[in-house]
Amino acid sequence: MSSLSNKRILLGVTGGIAAYKSAELLRQLISLGADVRVAMTPAAQAFITPLTLQALSGKPVHTELITPEAEAAMGHIELARWADLILIAPCSADFMSKLVAGEASDLLSTLYLASKNLTVIAPAMNQAMWASAATQANLDILRHRNVVVCGPASGEQACGDIGFGRMEEPASIAEFCESLFETGTLAGKRVLITAGPTREAIDPVRYLSNHSSGKMGYALAEAAAEAGAKVTLVSGPVNLACPDHVQRIDVVSAQDMFDAVMHEGAKTDIFIGAAAVADFRVESVAENKIKKGQDDTSQIKLVENPDIIKSFAERYADAFVVGFAAETTNVVEYAKSKLERKKLNLIIANDVSDKRIGFNSADNAVVVIGKQTEQKIELQSKSSLARKLIATIADEHSKG
Ligand code: PMT
Repeated sequence: MSSLSNKRILLGVTGGIAAYKSAELLRQLISLGADVRVAMTPAAQAFITPLTLQALSGKPVHTELITPEAEAAMGHIELARWADLILIAPCSADFMSKLVAGEASDLLSTLYLASKNLTVIAPAMNQAMWASAATQANLDILRHRNVVVCGPASGEQACGDIGFGRMEEPASIAEFCESLFETGTLAGKRVLITAGPTREAIDPVRYLSNHSSGKMGYALAEAAAEAGAKVTLVSGPVNLACPDHVQRIDVVSAQDMFDAVMHEGAKTDIFIGAAAVADFRVESVAENKIKKGQDDTSQIKLVENPDIIKSFAERYADAFVVGFAAETTNVVEYAKSKLERKKLNLIIANDVSDKRIGFNSADNAVVVIGKQTEQKIELQSKSSLARKLIATIADEHSKG
């Protein structure tokens, strides 16, 4: 669920060419579950009509400071109190100056003055206007007054100039607003998780695989999303529904999983490798089904698959990397050697010789091993365990 779900946002639109992007911003905020009302300055209405924003929001657009009808529906002070967030996008140089001066000469500046809640501005103006001493001084004052500033971006402007002054894209502004409301131990963090088995083809109908059901990885994905993270789950073939608010990428073989993980890696704060990746694949996959008595089946040559988690830890050295170790003997000792060899921050060891835990079971019990730490977590459901693991991972990650 987006952190903007059910948040009350007053979208203020001021006069500037970027006002046309407010329509898309409004659409995105609504699609994230926000309850959005729109207030426009007179100058904004020269660039985009109130009717457009009314049609998109499904609510009357507020344009006048005091009219009997508007006051009867929701008075301007009531509207200022109603908003959890006032988002002014675009916010022109002139309007920044009005905010600084504490003017109450139009509806939107009055709403800002009357509100004690969070205000975000997304400035948009010509690059020289943005760079001017007056605008920069206004910016400092607004920041000191706890106005949060999103952008502007740099690039080519409507007037042909190039530089800072373009309004941020609607999607970035919406994401920025989401981040202001995110809570939870992993708020704002991007977590990448692998889950399930991989399948290594022998011929078009047969494959090598293992007994991983994906339950452990999916429970972790759910717990990480609950903790406020943006979660991407790279999943081998399993019979599980994707947890809510988790983005799933389906893969089949270890090589597919490797490609997906490496592609997502640059955006990742925390990587958790819960998948049971096949260590080997068949060197040459038969083009047609291998026939009994006709084809030579005396040997299938195996070659090693890439080690996904090791490669990830090498390539993305800034990410926090957590592995799993499925062992049947010397569980902690073998896990420790994997922690070192694969350059992981933590490894979670499970004794898969115990039929109550590990592969395809509802429960699990593990030992969480760090470079200097060792923490045993007793037998419990994979979802309860996953919440504890995510709390530990968030804690260790926050220590840096
Ligand atoms: O899916 P479930 O049925 O719920 O079962 C859960 C589980 C037992 C699969 C899970 O808890 C678990 O232990 N996963 C890791 C299993 C495993 O393959 O362990 P390993 O010791 O072979 O690998 C160590 C680490 O390297 C793991 O993080 C693994 O994802 C990773 N790896 C291994 C091989 C490879 N080629 N690439 C890898 O990234």
